[in-house]
Amino acid sequence: MPATHRAPATASLDALYPAHHEALAARYTRLLEDLPFGGVAVYSGMPVYRFRDDQSWPFRAGAFYQQWVPCEDHAGAVLLFRPGQRPLLVLQMPRDYWHSVPAAPTGDWVRHFELVVVDDAAGLRAALPDGLGDLALVGEADATVADWGWGEINPPAVLSALEFSRLYKTDYEVACIRAANRIAVRGHMAALAAFQGGESEFGIHLAYLEATGHAEAELPYANIIALNEHGATLHYGRLDREPPAQRLSFLIDAGARCRGYAADITRTWPAEPGGEFAALVTALDHAQQDLIAALRAGHSYIDVHEDAQLAVAVILEDFGIVSMAPDDMVATGVSNAFLPHGVGHHLGLQVHDTGGKLARPDGKCIPQPEAWPFLRNLRPVEEGNVFTIEPGIYFIDSVLEHLRESPLGASVDWDAVERLKPYGGVRIEDNVWMGPDGPENLSREAF
Ligand code: GLY
Ligand code: MN
Ligand code: MN
Repeated sequence: MPATHRAPATASLDALYPAHHEALAARYTRLLEDLPFGGVAVYSGMPVYRFRDDQSWPFRAGAFYQQWVPCEDHAGAVLLFRPGQRPLLVLQMPRDYWHSVPAAPTGDWVRHFELVVVDDAAGLRAALPDGLGDLALVGEADATVADWGWGEINPPAVLSALEFSRLYKTDYEVACIRAANRIAVRGHMAALAAFQGGESEFGIHLAYLEATGHAEAELPYANIIALNEHGATLHYGRLDREPPAQRLSFLIDAGARCRGYAADITRTWPAEPGGEFAALVTALDHAQQDLIAALRAGHSYIDVHEDAQLAVAVILEDFGIVSMAPDDMVATGVSNAFLPHGVGHHLGLQVHDTGGKLARPDGKCIPQPEAWPFLRNLRPVEEGNVFTIEPGIYFIDSVLEHLRESPLGASVDWDAVERLKPYGGVRIEDNVWMGPDGPENLSREAF
């Protein structure tokens, strides 16, 4: 096995798990004080089958379940929490010759649960209490499980309170995201080498998988491996099998997972050092680090987004791409034409982690600013948060055509735009933890 397939060291994660478990138990207990349920059952879910097909999509346990259970994803598992009791964990492990069942859980964390292993759904039902009417069920309930007489399935008050609480990462969760960053960075270094070696997008993708040891279905999101003008498609998802005739640029947005927790990292590499595009990458890289250094608990993330728009506007002016005062570029939406996505989002068990639009645990939302319809985090920056900071500058035909036809188009050097279009765009994305001593960049420290 090549050295790159090493699993991350688990000892430190194991040491952090008990406090994480305790924190989750305290959160669930507090939640139940205000709600008419005696407990919460968290369901891992079942594989979902393709339409009129006996082939399922790759299975992944639901995030609420994974937050508790740090092992391979068992389908059809239930975790039952009641305040003051050791949680019951029922795992389905069919004993037949059709299924490859995830390994039986081992590790110190198992002692935090009353573990019961069953063969099938009937066994699962039998392992649960006779009456389920005082329980809230959380998770993607299939028809079998939905029919068992739960008090309520996915009550909105439970979902919003749990999603709100996921904004505040435990030390264990931060350590998992840190470990996921280390894995992803191995992939990023291998991908860069593959790009420099002349590989196609597909070849680079394979190098990334090899170096991270991740199968495609284990990635937190589909790799974005974009050569040249493909970088202008924000979620570019094709993988060309042939390398382009001329290599100009490489944008890679690719992550990794550790115990369910995601990394989400983007780098942009010019094919040649020097030149206008390489200078643009360097300028955005510096601006991104300045945005992170300026993060303070209590600042609104909406302001961080507007600071990113301003930083991009300053670069556009410095490079002579737009001649307009940077403030005016932000106010008129010109900078938004070059950075038409949010500056980032919360990160955790889901790559776009939940809770970023919640004002409060009861589900009340913060209104979406009209100017920034794609911003996923509207909350203040707070200690314990993990989020991305990912400014970009893109040369997107459809967006820039619109600008060109407007009166504001006169301030744009369209020759510069044409010169840079074949490079696609630049995005630099890191994962940041707001720790007790301020922002910590979990991605840069891994590179
Ligand atoms: N990889 C998706 C994103 O950066 O949001
Ligand atoms: Mn992201
Ligand atoms: Mn990303």
